[in-house]
Amino acid sequence: MTKSQAETELKALREEIETHNHNYYVLAQPTISDYEFDKLLERLIEIESQFPDLVTPDSPSQRVGGTVTKIFPTVVHKERMMSLSNTYSPEELREFVKRVQKELNAEGLTEAEFACELKFDGVAVSLIYRDGLFVQGATRGDGTTGDDITPNLKTIPTIPLRLKSPNDERAQVLLKGEIEVRGEVFMLKEDFETLNAQSEKQFANPRNATAGTLKQQDSREVAKRKLTFTAYFLSSDLLSDTVSHWERLRLLELLGFNVSPHRTLATKIEEIDSFLNEWEEKRDRLPFDIDGAVIKLNSIRQQNLLGATSKAPRWAIAYKFSARQAETRLRDVTYQVGRVGTVTPVAELEPVFLAGSTISRSTLHNFDEIARLELHVGDFVVLEKSGDVIPKVVRAVIEKRPIDAKPILPPTHCPSCQTPLINPEGEVNLYCPNEDHCPAQIQGRILHYASRNAMDIENLGEAVVEQLLKEGLIGDVGDIYSIEKQRLISLERFGEKSAQNLLEAIESSKLRPLERLLFGLGIRHVGLATARILARKFTSIDDLASASLEALEQTEEVGATIAKSVHDYFRKPSTLLLIEKLKRAGVNMKGEKSETIENAHFSGKSVVFTGTLESLTREKASEEVLKRGGKVSGSISKKTDYVVAGSEAGSKLEKAKKLGVRILSEAEFLSLLSP
Ligand code: IVH
Repeated sequence: MTKSQAETELKALREEIETHNHNYYVLAQPTISDYEFDKLLERLIEIESQFPDLVTPDSPSQRVGGTVTKIFPTVVHKERMMSLSNTYSPEELREFVKRVQKELNAEGLTEAEFACELKFDGVAVSLIYRDGLFVQGATRGDGTTGDDITPNLKTIPTIPLRLKSPNDERAQVLLKGEIEVRGEVFMLKEDFETLNAQSEKQFANPRNATAGTLKQQDSREVAKRKLTFTAYFLSSDLLSDTVSHWERLRLLELLGFNVSPHRTLATKIEEIDSFLNEWEEKRDRLPFDIDGAVIKLNSIRQQNLLGATSKAPRWAIAYKFSARQAETRLRDVTYQVGRVGTVTPVAELEPVFLAGSTISRSTLHNFDEIARLELHVGDFVVLEKSGDVIPKVVRAVIEKRPIDAKPILPPTHCPSCQTPLINPEGEVNLYCPNEDHCPAQIQGRILHYASRNAMDIENLGEAVVEQLLKEGLIGDVGDIYSIEKQRLISLERFGEKSAQNLLEAIESSKLRPLERLLFGLGIRHVGLATARILARKFTSIDDLASASLEALEQTEEVGATIAKSVHDYFRKPSTLLLIEKLKRAGVNMKGEKSETIENAHFSGKSVVFTGTLESLTREKASEEVLKRGGKVSGSISKKTDYVVAGSEAGSKLEKAKKLGVRILSEAEFLSLLSP
């Protein structure tokens, strides 16, 4: 390929990729598969690596990250990034509207028009575009200066690296010169939960996770976490002040930004009220957190007339939804022991109804938190629920403290196995050191092993695991594969069918890819992402178990801490016994790199088999689905994509029909396997 050929192809690829990016992330209407998209990106990166001097700052290859910044440079904001004055009171909001109207009247202007928007609960950033190209992105900082986090922001798919060139005169003007776009970076609730489930570090809420992610020094790390951006402000010398805020939001959309559709224009206070009421009621149903609404005077000219105080503009106000609170009594504090032995205090509360559910327990995280809240058993406490976040104790009502309230002392022994607890230096947590025999830790490990991101064993939930342990059917993770059906049926709560379902779910977990097994083992510091990297480099468990510390350390993205943790883990006798047990049970221990079939049917699909297949065994059939990136499950739910019905298919077939799940005959299934 000549350089000029490369140039032509790169240009076409970049445009194509960014169009698909926009279709996917902004319009939510993808027109090609993920696989096809990845192929385009791969091709782009391949050509760019042959011609490194053809890499441009707006190339989609920049989104995968790679820049490491030790200290973020400081930038001075062109225009100060002010905060907003807040109110929780509808009364004050009314006063704000009245004041604005009065001031405008004094200037001889008649009716004030307001833009009502959601107040996104994330991190505000400022983006500078020069001649249509994203050149700098910064945090708010103290309002005057912020941190230049351009490489991190470039990884966010909803931040255009190059503006679109729409068929609109006003928008065209903005492509020649400098513009500033402000908006919020945030994380969807769903992505936040996945992140917390996959990593050891736990963030309290999506906003903290976003802030923590944007501060990462390695932009590759940012690229892995799913952040999104929504724009709510556009400023440029190229725009006249007769272009209203509302029109600017439209321009932002035309230029390729995500702008929230949940916005409205209002002239009457009643209209504003109804917007607020609507969203206060609907906020829990949004896929992201909001903490209120923002009401802005729509005319930029009028905004300029009203000006700002030293802190906030006088033409806008944030109406914050009150966090929903309830008061109740702290009956007791109990302790939960996690799978790595961490002892977590839990508040046992007098049940109280709060924003849609009855709360009787709430985590207190650790002893520092108890000390900070100065909690006593018997206290009245205030519980708070903001957005989707789990309710938490925010304070003790000291004035109401009963005389017999008791201070809370840290436990000395494990509540599960009575082993004396330890408090490693520099850590806030207490730990139970009895990792091999503590029942609570064993239960935690089994639950983790069976969890969705690990071996995904449906029906093996908390209550079932507890029962199996109590009845002595299992003693550790490896035992689940030798549970006998008859013994299961003899247990309370199990019938023929539920026993069968559980055993099938356990059976199909044997075929999970190596990375899921590695994650499921619960090795300290090995989250799903690390497990994936390890499974790719070391293609079998034996390979990984015998890897030297140096070999582990040399693995891309595996630092000394992870390497040591993995190395130590595979040198514990209990680990070797467990691996032996799993091997004997037939659990997959090999990477399936060479075995995967890409871009095939069943990729990302959930399949359930029922009845007897004629031409292949169920194991073989499951394997074929797994190879194609699909999932095999033991029971049918709304999430099932296909039910493959062999002969003598029974109740599952009925259920599939009832739920409207697509049913495949064996012949249809086989035909979908061939390319
Ligand atoms: S406008 C001068 N609009 O709220 C006004 N801000 O306390 C600039 N925020 O730092 C802000 N959603 O992070 C505006 N629709 C929205 C917003 C919004 C969230 C945040 C933003 C800002 C803070 C103000």
